[in-house]
Order: sequence, then structure tokens, then C-alpha cells
Amino acid sequence: MSDVRQYAKEVSDWIDEIMAYLERIDITDSTVLANIERLSQWTNDLVAEEIDYENMVLIEEEMARVYEEIEEIARDLSTQQRQTQSVPIGKHTLPPLPYAYNALEPTISEEIMYLHHDKHHQTYVDGLNKAELMMKNARETKDYSLLKHWEKEAAFHGSGHYLHTIFWEGMIPRGGGQPKGDLLKQIEKDFGSFAAFKNHFSEAAKQVEGVGWAILVWVPRARKLEILQSELHMILTQWDTIPVLVLDVWEHAYYLQYKNNRASYVDKWWDVVNWPQTALRFTEAKKLTWKQQ
Ligand SMILES: [Fe+2]
Repeated sequence: MSDVRQYAKEVSDWIDEIMAYLERIDITDSTVLANIERLSQWTNDLVAEEIDYENMVLIEEEMARVYEEIEEIARDLSTQQRQTQSVPIGKHTLPPLPYAYNALEPTISEEIMYLHHDKHHQTYVDGLNKAELMMKNARETKDYSLLKHWEKEAAFHGSGHYLHTIFWEGMIPRGGGQPKGDLLKQIEKDFGSFAAFKNHFSEAAKQVEGVGWAILVWVPRARKLEILQSELHMILTQWDTIPVLVLDVWEHAYYLQYKNNRASYVDKWWDVVNWPQTALRFTEAKKLTWKQQ
């Protein structure tokens, strides 16, 4: 199979995964489903056609157009699924993984993804719920003797829950490469080049003291991107920033597969980065503006 046909087949597989995902999360919007069906049919037709190298440029353009449309659909879906209601106290829930447990192999194994999502992330959700309920109880009883403990729990589990949610969305099967458009321009402006950004982010991840995260944030007040480390989930956090891309470097994220070689996990992780979703978070984050002081 030629490279082009292999590429077309990969896009077709990706559409199948998106459709399975829509089914799983019970999306019934007929316009979105019809668009994906149409794209699926179109891509299948491309796979079935005899493709020679003379038509490579044309086919690449067609594939790029299909990709753009899928990105737009993903953006629409994200808007539809936007959280508009506040989560009641103690009622946070574990968001489903946006792909199968084995979808990021060989970069991240199925066993890690299962334990990381179903066990570790669930623990943070449960911990946040408990902390919120205990603080509510403290307000009602006016007994604040354990407040420091529950505040710490709320910060630890809350950050754990929110960062993991961004982390799952920030990866995708057959991801990687580099971002496009506005996000790429901003990265080049703030870090010099994409390569310089990638090296800086990787070093930040490898050098986290103990367990923690590497985090690309948008700083609304300074209108720029910044790379931060976080020890645990919340120590070294810079408040007033919005995480754009996060990399979990707790041992539970890689140890079963990479043992103590965090650096190897960090280097391989770039192969599953979901740049379209990351660009979407960046666009949304940039909408927050403050009055100039
Ligand atoms: Fe984690």
C-alpha cells in the first residue's frame, strides 16, 4: 500500500473512532452525524480508488479539507457539550475517556490508561467531592477546626481532577506533529520557535521535583504563553493563568511501561499530543480579557 493510501486509510480509521465516540457519549445531533457519515463515505471512496503518485498533491488537498471539516465538527461538539450549569457541591463526576483505553498505544499502554483514568482520576473526583461536602458542613455547623485540612484536600483533588480532564483531551490517537495557525504563531513569538518550546516543555516535565506536571498556560493579564511546573497537582501553581497543554509526570502515568525512565515517556508523549484540541483551548482562553491598568 502506498503512503498516500495508507494515510487515507488512517483518516478513515480515525473517523470510525470518532463515530464510536459519538455513539458512546450519545450524541444525536443529526447534522453532525450526517456530516461525519458524508466524510466517512468520502474517505472510504478515496481509499477504494486507484491512487497514483501523479494525483498525490490533489489527494493531499482533499485529505486536508476532510481534516479541516472534522476539526470544525469537533469544535461544534465542544460548544454543544459546554458546561453551562454549575456542578452542585460534592457532585463532580469522572468524565469518560475520549477514546479507548488502548487507543494511545504504543506510546501509553492500555493498562496504564485504565488504572490512570478509572482508579487515579476517580480518586481525585471522590476527594474533591468529599472536601466540598466537608467544607459545606463546616459552614453549616460553624466548626472550622479542620478547615485547613479540607482546603488542602480541595486544592489537591480539585487540581488533580481538572488537570487530568485537560490531560485526556490533550492527547489523541495518531496525534503529534506541531500546531497550526494562531497557536503556532504565539508559540513562536513567546518561545522563539516550536522546537525551542518543545525542548523547554520537555525539560520542565523531566525536571519536576518528585511527582507533578508540566503545564503550558495562557496568561491573560500579560497576553502571553508561559511554561510552568507543578509539584503534586497544585504546588508552584501560578494563579490567574489558564492551562493550555498539560503533561502528567506522576509515576502512575508511565511507570508500568517506562519504569523510572521519565525522559523516554516525555519524549514519546509528543506522538499523541492533540494539537487541534489544544488550539481550541488556547482560542477559548484568549477570550478572557482584563481592563488595562
Ligand atoms: Fe495522573
